[in-house]
Amino acid sequence: MNIHDSLQNPETDNRLSELTLLYQFSNTMLSTIRLNKLMHLILTAITAPSSNLFERTILFLRNEKSNVLQGMLAVTRQLSEGLQIVGGHDALESRWDISDELISRQRSAEFCLQVRLTRIEIDSACPLIRHIVSERSFCHSEDILCQKCPTCHFMKPLCSGPFAAVPLIAHETTIGMVVVDNPDSGLNITCDNLHFLQLFANQAGMAIENSMLYNRIKDAHLNLKDARERLLHGERLAAIGEMAANLAHELKNPLITIGGFAGRLLKSLPDETREHQYADTIVSEVSRLEKMLAEILAFSRKPTICFCVCDLEGIIQECLASCAATFEDHNIKITFSSKAQPWKVSGDAHQLKQVFLNLILNACDAMPDGGKLLLTLERTSLGKEMIVATVEDTGGGIPEHMFQQIFNPFFTTKHHGTGLGLAIANRIILNHFGSIEAHNSGQGAVFKITLPLAK
Ligand SMILES: Nc1ncnc2c1ncn2[C@@H]1O[C@H](COP(=O)(O)OP(=O)(O)OP(=O)(O)O)[C@@H](O)[C@H]1O
Ligand SMILES: [Mg+2]
Repeated sequence: MNIHDSLQNPETDNRLSELTLLYQFSNTMLSTIRLNKLMHLILTAITAPSSNLFERTILFLRNEKSNVLQGMLAVTRQLSEGLQIVGGHDALESRWDISDELISRQRSAEFCLQVRLTRIEIDSACPLIRHIVSERSFCHSEDILCQKCPTCHFMKPLCSGPFAAVPLIAHETTIGMVVVDNPDSGLNITCDNLHFLQLFANQAGMAIENSMLYNRIKDAHLNLKDARERLLHGERLAAIGEMAANLAHELKNPLITIGGFAGRLLKSLPDETREHQYADTIVSEVSRLEKMLAEILAFSRKPTICFCVCDLEGIIQECLASCAATFEDHNIKITFSSKAQPWKVSGDAHQLKQVFLNLILNACDAMPDGGKLLLTLERTSLGKEMIVATVEDTGGGIPEHMFQQIFNPFFTTKHHGTGLGLAIANRIILNHFGSIEAHNSGQGAVFKITLPLAK
């Protein structure tokens, strides 16, 4: 048989078009590393009128940790008509492509949304699915395994007629499953098409696995970059902190002398005189500076914590009591909501009080013309039992671009602030194995502190 004869032979024609399809498919798999686009391309190629294989296809990916098959995407023939051939006329060079617009139309189709809500727990799934995952071989709705199954919680709601499913395999593991059917014509799935689908699926499995690995490497790279930046930032802060501590130490003694003499001067000057007023200003400014230096020195010292079981509700009540005059002066209304539970945490009561005082005073600063301060205590379990305390104000909130900086030492927007309040609070909470976060609510800032509940 010469080449001309072979091209006239329908069986050879068939093989040739199958090979062309496989070539185009493998070129397409190599054209992108974007997982989302890859999934759309795979399903669109399988359902495209030009491939003439199946009318609808569904993709599931397996979460190995939870052993669940998660519905990712479904594409019907109507929505695969936009598949384009690009990259040359030669079948060996050409590949498929789809537009972003088609991707978003496929993603928002009703059937696709239904599929994306489907989760199949493999251990309790039907025998057919368990077989596909464990034996790594395709199955058919005509199979005895499926026919004998008394109930079908998953396949029947999605595919009413005959269907078939093939595993997606990478490195000898089932990483997902592709389901195909012909809902418009109701046609049976032929063995030839199914074998062909398995060839597709083998390549698709590797391409999907590569894309997921690429994404994981990209994430790890970003995390590493982030960690490096934080390390550098930490080193810079440590250097600034050391310099500030030295400076504070040097300034402390002369300041005490200035304060002492200014105090004596104040006592010796008659009231109501201009000089008395000047001396008074010196005394109060010196005491403000002394307070600031004390804070800087406290921050630069290595903290020691005396751990004992303390009651967070009591700590907050004490803070509120010591700020009562400020609330009255600023016309601030307080609401403290805590269900009557013991809120026991293991920590240093004095330091925890400092945290809440800093947050409450910041809230008061943010509401000079009055407002509302809401404090809450709640329980949550994030793996282990935690207490979540929130301090929320109505002071207008924190500008978005500042969130990155507010916990940095010496960051302040206040005329008289040292910018150490939140840095100290953050450090104390971290030393108590907790976390502190800030965000804006409708009317102001919310600080959320999470601490482990004492056993
Ligand atoms: N509740 C809040 N509402 C709006 N902005 C806030 C609030 N809390 C903190 N901030 C912002 O975060 C900055 C840093 O706060 P932080 O408590 O660390 O320092 P400070 O209050 O400026 O000075 P210090 O507490 O040392 O006297 C503040 O200057 C302010 O801009
Ligand atoms: Mg403050």
